[in-house]
Amino acid sequence: SSKVHTKYICSNCGAETLKWMGRCPQCGEWNTLEERVETMAPKSLGPSLSANLQSNAKPQKLSAIHFNGDKRILLHMNEVDRPLGGGIVKGSVILWGGEPGIGKSTLILQICHAMASQGESVLYCSGEESEIQVKLRAERLHVNDENCYIYAGSSIDGILQEAENLKPSMLVIDSIQTMYISGVDSPMGSPAQIRDCTSALVRFAKRTNISVMIVGHVTKEGNLAGPRILEHMVDVVFYLEGDRSYQFRVLRTVKNRFGSTAESGLFVMEGNGLKGIEDPSKYMLRNRSESAPGSMVVACMEGLRPVLVEMQALTVHSVLAIPRRIAAGYDYNRMIILLAVLEKRVRIPFSTDDVYLNVAGGFRVRETAADLGIALALVSVKKDIPLPGGLMALGEIGLTGEVMPVSKIGPRLKEAVKMKFDRFLLPEGNREEVTDFCKSHGLTGMLDSMVFIRHL
Ligand code: TYD
Ligand code: MG
Repeated sequence: SSKVHTKYICSNCGAETLKWMGRCPQCGEWNTLEERVETMAPKSLGPSLSANLQSNAKPQKLSAIHFNGDKRILLHMNEVDRPLGGGIVKGSVILWGGEPGIGKSTLILQICHAMASQGESVLYCSGEESEIQVKLRAERLHVNDENCYIYAGSSIDGILQEAENLKPSMLVIDSIQTMYISGVDSPMGSPAQIRDCTSALVRFAKRTNISVMIVGHVTKEGNLAGPRILEHMVDVVFYLEGDRSYQFRVLRTVKNRFGSTAESGLFVMEGNGLKGIEDPSKYMLRNRSESAPGSMVVACMEGLRPVLVEMQALTVHSVLAIPRRIAAGYDYNRMIILLAVLEKRVRIPFSTDDVYLNVAGGFRVRETAADLGIALALVSVKKDIPLPGGLMALGEIGLTGEVMPVSKIGPRLKEAVKMKFDRFLLPEGNREEVTDFCKSHGLTGMLDSMVFIRHL
């Protein structure tokens, strides 16, 4: 039994209302609500539900449902397989978000190669580039596979027809913003088009067991009405992130129905594609100048992995009425707070200095565990005294100047020891955990090189 529903979808943000309004209640834009008539009842239950309805209409006893394990295809690309949870699950839909130019098409073409060279065919559909352009990129990446099909087109109806005939193991849509589907009047790239195209792709994937990869561009602010409205429809959501002036890239897992979202992949963009980084700490510290004042290494967690990164601070006497403060790879407001705490609690005045803070190599530090290290880097450059090369400091700094414990201290220390760090300044609150960790890892000798503090 199908019912007819009318609803209104904002072409700017994708919000839905049941009544027409002049102004979108969610984003506040005027005249953006478009009428949509829905006739299919199962569709309103969501794509994954409707797919299940077709195959399995009767309730089953939980005990009678048998699980054969996900059928997965291993790519033999560690930095992609791991975030996926151990390869691509057949019939899964994976959304790849990221800023334009960050490397999504490059990485996906490399994945196509990894599949095709194992005899799994792929259909790569591009609405952004011609076959020749894709071919040129493929040559740069040394991809030349018999099992890799390229299709330049923007019609989802046409693409699904081709996929139906070809029956590849994987279908790639690059990008969802350049696709359209019949029956939707909104322009290409509008939330209504993006959503209906994706919903058709999800139904296709579940019905045929063909994996689908969807590329979606996101602006720097991440607020483009695009990939964000799709996150709930797909199985896996990845964001490829990085600073385009650096070669370093992080593949972050935002959602994964088949694995942990704590996993991430690390890459360098080279002349022939993205290369997985096997030893991230070694990569991040490769250009370090130990003896410079203002340089300090901190162990950060990138997903489940500790990564050692160099923080660089610079202060100079300011000629401006309001001194300049710039933070690259680090939260600006957090830096301001640390400067205020240092000024008030340790009486080191920064208020007439320009202050610059930089995380070397394009890494983004998102953790308060780096606070103590950053504070030391700031003091070091202010006093023009270099810090000992083998010193590492970990700890969160509170507004009263207290040094608070950090999470996952064990793995961080282990990585630091591996990279030959031999002096540690740590929060008193971590003492017990660190002692236990050192004992159980045969590192009791290290305890002599540690100083635990409660306050700045
Ligand atoms: P691309 O994959 O086209 O980005 P997206 O699909 O996310 O928009 O990557 C574009 C950038 O990557 C471009 O500036 C050139 C650079 N690049 C390399 O550095 N090495 C390579 O091997 C390739 C193919 C691209
Ligand atoms: Mg692209």
